[in-house]
Amino acid sequence: MHVKLDALAEKGFAVLRNYEGLQVPPEEWMQLEYMDWKSGGDTNFAPIASALGEMECAGFWDHGKPDKDGIWTKNAELCPTLVKWTEEVGARYGRVRIIKLNPNTEAEATHNLHLDDNNRLNPDGEGWVVRAWLQLTDDPNSYMILREDKNDPATESRISMPRNRQIVIDSQRLWHAAWHPGPEPRYALIVSFESGDALNKWIESQS
Ligand SMILES: [Fe+2]
Repeated sequence: MHVKLDALAEKGFAVLRNYEGLQVPPEEWMQLEYMDWKSGGDTNFAPIASALGEMECAGFWDHGKPDKDGIWTKNAELCPTLVKWTEEVGARYGRVRIIKLNPNTEAEATHNLHLDDNNRLNPDGEGWVVRAWLQLTDDPNSYMILREDKNDPATESRISMPRNRQIVIDSQRLWHAAWHPGPEPRYALIVSFESGDALNKWIESQS
């Protein structure tokens, strides 16, 4: 059993208000080192915090850790605003990375619906790991598609993704994938956070 947030109990996700802090300079996502890593479509990922601080996208379990206590990689030096955003949430974080998603179709996005593995090795009694998204590019016509049941469109929610949108998703509970018509790639920050008082307080502050 793990500690879970009431804020996510009903729907499994929370759309927060847009990030109102410092504008994130595009260099902070354009100048990072990306790795070839496929998840939910034609994607590349820039690791900003990883299990050991190495430039890798693998699960923390490969190093015997739950998805918590991420260590900054060399990319972190190039994106101080994103590091600050992560630290200001105040909750324990694991994976911190940017997803670059190349354009896709609605049918491809639906096909790409998947569950994340956020809680492998997460000790009983600790906080359930969920993920937060900070949208970097301005893609109001792109949607995060969420389903409770992968094969039942009636369980679906769609969240559009303008710049600075903040979303928290229990992405091990909800099937998810982004539909991004393009034409340019979509970039977003994704951070694994531990559920608990700190994350709850931040969600309330951003609601
Ligand atoms: Fe995912």
